[in-house]
Amino acid sequence: MKKITIAIDGFSSSGKSTMAKELAKEIGYTYIDTGAMYRAVTLYCLRHHLFNDEEIDEKRLEAALPGLNISFRLNKGTGRPDTYLNGENVEKAIRGMEVAGRVSQLAAIGFVRRRLVAGQQEMGKAKGVVMDGRDIGTVVFPDAELKIFVTASPEVRAKRRMDELVAKGEMASYEEVLENVKKRDHIDSTREESPLRQAEDALILDNSHMGMDEQKAWLLEQYRRVVGE
Ligand code: DC
Repeated sequence: MKKITIAIDGFSSSGKSTMAKELAKEIGYTYIDTGAMYRAVTLYCLRHHLFNDEEIDEKRLEAALPGLNISFRLNKGTGRPDTYLNGENVEKAIRGMEVAGRVSQLAAIGFVRRRLVAGQQEMGKAKGVVMDGRDIGTVVFPDAELKIFVTASPEVRAKRRMDELVAKGEMASYEEVLENVKKRDHIDSTREESPLRQAEDALILDNSHMGMDEQKAWLLEQYRRVVGE
């Protein structure tokens, strides 16, 4: 059967990663979480003190970037890929509030985007991938055969993010999380470099009031339609 490229873009905590992972597993495709790549670079910056208050030391970052190796390896326990930074499993470290609070700032830097986009294009060139992010259907794979743009209200997304943090034993207040969701939406959609926007040929999925099973069924239906099954 022909292999296609599936681009899933949308706001943070819209549940797109969960959907994308499920779909990839179901149809035997490789799942690539591009947000994890921006998070891994952010973690590197935090660990190497490249953030000074609101600023990032772009000179040092640009020099360090070619030496950063970000990859994904399947975690046999969860059945999902974990993110590795220079050989270290950073899956847990990149999901905390500290990285979440800084990642949008980093993702707005042109040279960081160009480097990560090139890596994403390389990973997806053989097709058979489900890639999730913000600019997959617009910049990384503008020719993707199936593009989905996922959205949900900020309140619903903050609630989901809260649930995730609580499940991991992290403390945060709902107000703090909602604030972070709104702030990231603003930075992601107003930045100059590849702002978050819906590709003209993307299908919109507002999942504010949809369950996981319903979303999965909808997504599978779109996939089958495109591959002509
Ligand atoms: O999907 P996520 O929440 O893990 O993404 C983390 C941040 O990275 C978010 O602020 C948006 C940014 N990002 C991006 O700019 N482009 C992508 N393709 C993926 C994520």
